[in-house]
Amino acid sequence: MPLSVVILAAGQGKRMKSDLPKVLQPLAGRPLLGHVLDTAAGLEAAATHVVYGHGGEQVLEAFKGRDVHWALQAEQHGTGHAVMQAMPQVPDDHLVLVLYGDVPLVQLDTLARLVAAAGPDAVSLLSVMLPDPTGYGRIVRDGAGNVVRIVEHKDANAKERAIHESNTGLMCVPAAKLKGWLGSLKNDNAQGEYYLTDIVVMAVRSGCQVHAVVAPTVTEVLGVNDKVQLAELEAAYRKQRATALMLEGVTIVDPARFDARGPVSAGRDVHIDVNVVLEGSVKLGDRVRIGPNVVIRDSEIGDDVEIHANCVVDRAVVGARSIVGPFSRLRPDAKLHEDVHVGNFVEVKNSVLRAGAKANHLTYLGDATVGEKVNVGAGTITCNYDGVNKWRTEIGAGAFIGSGTMLVAPVKVGAGATIGAGSTITKDAPDEKLTLERSKQVTIDSWQRPPKK
Ligand code: UD1
Ligand code: MG
Repeated sequence: MPLSVVILAAGQGKRMKSDLPKVLQPLAGRPLLGHVLDTAAGLEAAATHVVYGHGGEQVLEAFKGRDVHWALQAEQHGTGHAVMQAMPQVPDDHLVLVLYGDVPLVQLDTLARLVAAAGPDAVSLLSVMLPDPTGYGRIVRDGAGNVVRIVEHKDANAKERAIHESNTGLMCVPAAKLKGWLGSLKNDNAQGEYYLTDIVVMAVRSGCQVHAVVAPTVTEVLGVNDKVQLAELEAAYRKQRATALMLEGVTIVDPARFDARGPVSAGRDVHIDVNVVLEGSVKLGDRVRIGPNVVIRDSEIGDDVEIHANCVVDRAVVGARSIVGPFSRLRPDAKLHEDVHVGNFVEVKNSVLRAGAKANHLTYLGDATVGEKVNVGAGTITCNYDGVNKWRTEIGAGAFIGSGTMLVAPVKVGAGATIGAGSTITKDAPDEKLTLERSKQVTIDSWQRPPKK
């Protein structure tokens, strides 16, 4: 049957004590709802609906451009009422998978099992065994073990409260029947809400099968209600990602001090020291070594690259065998070819450094093309901005730029040229020649240091 995913995301999240709506709170740098949408995308559903309410405009803005149908639940009258808001857009012959926008770590395999257990005459729900199920709905089974209903904690008697099998809230239900059941929900319960969970007893009465699929881990069904739980899930996510990479062969010196926040691909024998954060999509070649305190975002790092301590690499490409850092900053569109050295306090932005180029100390290379085997001396700056526009600097292969050089762009330094230290170069410097710009050094023989008063 075709699948429609319905994600409940209208809750306010009062306990977050934040101006940001709960489903926009970031986990590993992405909004909670983003995690759910990304995981659900793996199901290739016919449509995805998000029921939103609190912080509506902000939520729509954060996900604009996504292929999602939005259903507004202006007032929150319970999970059943929330699902109702999306149902007019769902065709009768679909299965409806209900997810929560604040349960971010649910796994694709689990969702696939839940969907597989549902059908035109079968409802499936995801349950979980909790050591302390206080607050959760309980799965009530009959003597034969069949699910008969779900009772909310607040409505449960002592015997029901002793049940450990709890409702995660995630379920999969045939749309036509769901529409009927939702229509007959009542709110005569402890919270005065329309409970989605009340459809279970209706399903049983109508002769529908109800299958409880037990979640393989507690973590993946945990919801986020406050910043403490948010940090707990962040830690769980961190551990998951580190474990997966270690099982692929990556050496992670301390998995508790390593964060992979987006997709990472890593070659063989990659070594990662402590306090490394990988964000966005990061590709690491074979034998890459990353030192402590390094942030890499949306970048590609070639084979045998060494990134020393305290570097920030953002939307850059680093060629094989290059050495970066310590204390280097590679900014967007920094492209280092093979065997490039970029050392301490060197910033590179929108620049190409061809094979074997070196800029080892205290340098800014912005909007520059640096040829093969160029040596950029300490304290060199490409003056790329005239206060209005940005201009390019081109340095030919094999050039030697003396220390403390200002290259005032637009400017070209020829291949094999040598620039004398301390020059401010405003005109193109020819190939193979020494060019320097420097006032004459003088010594004043008659000068005397004034006496101290
Ligand atoms: C719900 C379940 C309970 C389950 C628990 C798991 C019901 C009646 N109860 O309870 O059995 O054990 O989740 O966490 O379904 N939401 C809306 N609109 C609303 C109400 C809720 O969008 O009007 C959203 C919330 O933002 C949240 C989700 O639905 O993402 C669950 O709502 P919540 O209030 O946390 O439900 P619980 O009372 O915890
Ligand atoms: Mg809840």
